[in-house]
Amino acid sequence: MSGPFLEATGLRGGYGAADILHGCNLSVEKGRIAVIVGPNGAGKSTAMKAVFGMLPLREGRVMLGGRDITGLTPQARVAAGMGFVPQVRNIFPTMTVEENLEMGGFLRRDDIRPTIEQVYDLFPILGDKRHQAAGELSGGQRQQVAVGRALMTRPQLLMLDEPTAGVSPIVMDELFDRIIEVARTGISILMVEQNARQALEIADTGYVLVQGANRFTDTGAALLADPHVRASFLGG
Ligand SMILES: Nc1ncnc2c1ncn2[C@@H]1O[C@H](COP(=O)(O)OP(=O)(O)OP(=O)(O)O)[C@@H](O)[C@H]1O
Ligand SMILES: [Mg+2]
Repeated sequence: MSGPFLEATGLRGGYGAADILHGCNLSVEKGRIAVIVGPNGAGKSTAMKAVFGMLPLREGRVMLGGRDITGLTPQARVAAGMGFVPQVRNIFPTMTVEENLEMGGFLRRDDIRPTIEQVYDLFPILGDKRHQAAGELSGGQRQQVAVGRALMTRPQLLMLDEPTAGVSPIVMDELFDRIIEVARTGISILMVEQNARQALEIADTGYVLVQGANRFTDTGAALLADPHVRASFLGG
């Protein structure tokens, strides 16, 4: 296979007659981290839904590992190697931590136990709290459950929509460290982040999305150094 592991090109579509995405392009190399930033309502979550097959596309194509998956359902995309943590309602709050992970693995026919143990190795606090209801955990721990649940299908591409929403700066740094660790195992990461500056610091590729289109695309470092990006999107 040559080219990026994920390559979404010319995404065009929305929720009704009006398009939200206007020819958006996103790609991620194998084992790399791509970060999407941009103002509220820019279409970041919509772009993630489009890549995951939750949004009917008027135009555009999604390639995963060299295979055209544009026509696949979200469930078939999971089987093809995608994991998705949505921005909202990403855990089952009344179920225990472990039940959440089991739910994540329900598509699998093989033994999911080793993967549960891998999630506990990555997030030790989840092992300690495995029998607690996920809804009783702190915000940062709930996000760990959501990420862990998505890892249960052993994805090759992990998509995260604002994984650090509502957590403290220390918890954010820890979560980013774990995400880097996941990428080092060869899993590609596509992540939307409100904490733009910190997220671009760990990004191999960064996208500034505005009104459903790519405004700036570059390495994370180059975007952080770009005076236009800084002034308009990173608070100076
Ligand atoms: N289910 C929906 N039905 C109709 N319109 C929607 C729906 N979800 C989002 N929109 C609209 O699509 C546009 C893009 O929303 P989206 O959630 O993709 O933005 P975002 O960049 O993720 O914003 P945020 O930073 O607030 O998460 C907004 O105008 C929003 O109101
Ligand atoms: Mg969003």
